[in-house]
Amino acid sequence: MTGHLRLGVNIDHVATIRNARGGDHPDPVKAALAAAEAGADGITAHLREDRRHIRDEDISALMARLEIPLNLEMAATEEMLEIALRHRPHAACLVPEKREERTTEGGLDAAGQDNHLRPFVARLAEANIRVSLFIEPDARQIEAAIRLKAPVVEFHTGRYAHLEGEARAAELRRIADAAALAAKNGIEPHAGHGLNFDNVVPVAAIPQIRELNIGHFLVGEALFIGLDASVRRMRALMGEAR
Ligand code: PXP
Repeated sequence: MTGHLRLGVNIDHVATIRNARGGDHPDPVKAALAAAEAGADGITAHLREDRRHIRDEDISALMARLEIPLNLEMAATEEMLEIALRHRPHAACLVPEKREERTTEGGLDAAGQDNHLRPFVARLAEANIRVSLFIEPDARQIEAAIRLKAPVVEFHTGRYAHLEGEARAAELRRIADAAALAAKNGIEPHAGHGLNFDNVVPVAAIPQIRELNIGHFLVGEALFIGLDASVRRMRALMGEAR
């Protein structure tokens, strides 16, 4: 038996649909409350520089109304740091961000950006915000996280999700080795990106991983079976894997 694996539900794409028409429906806060009701342990939202989905007022509303922890995904910029320090979410996950990309395409180069990231990690930590670094499952990046004193790392599972067969198995081993290395060094490993009902179980079975953050698939699947059922089914699969 391994410990409880938390599910953070990412509600960004509820806001994507809302923004397609410029009104206030569907409301990402309502989705967050429904996800909590269905068993989500936390809510994740990415306030992007271009505000293409979540907006500043969504963060205020989530902070005011959520009873489960909010994990704010953010680029390491002064603007985002100021917003995080103002709202003081439970956690902040530092992600790389390029304006033109469709989604977060690779992990943060913590090893190469060590000096840039250091003050962000320190100032978030001083404000009692649990800092996480979204990195590739790679020893060099974990060593950087250790130097930066990040309490949490989140491994990018995008490659795992897109690969098949032996290549996927090899990537899974890379994630498992990275999780073991992080845990051995006192860093809590999380994982996310591209996870769905068909690929979540092997990642959820990695004993050191404490949290998965899942968004696009859950919101998409909600069109067919509803958000409540989509979150409950994910929770059940995660539970079975432990
Ligand atoms: N974790 C992080 C750090 C992310 O940037 C994202 C995508 O916003 C996710 C998890 C969730 O990925 P997906 O939407 O593919 O489930």
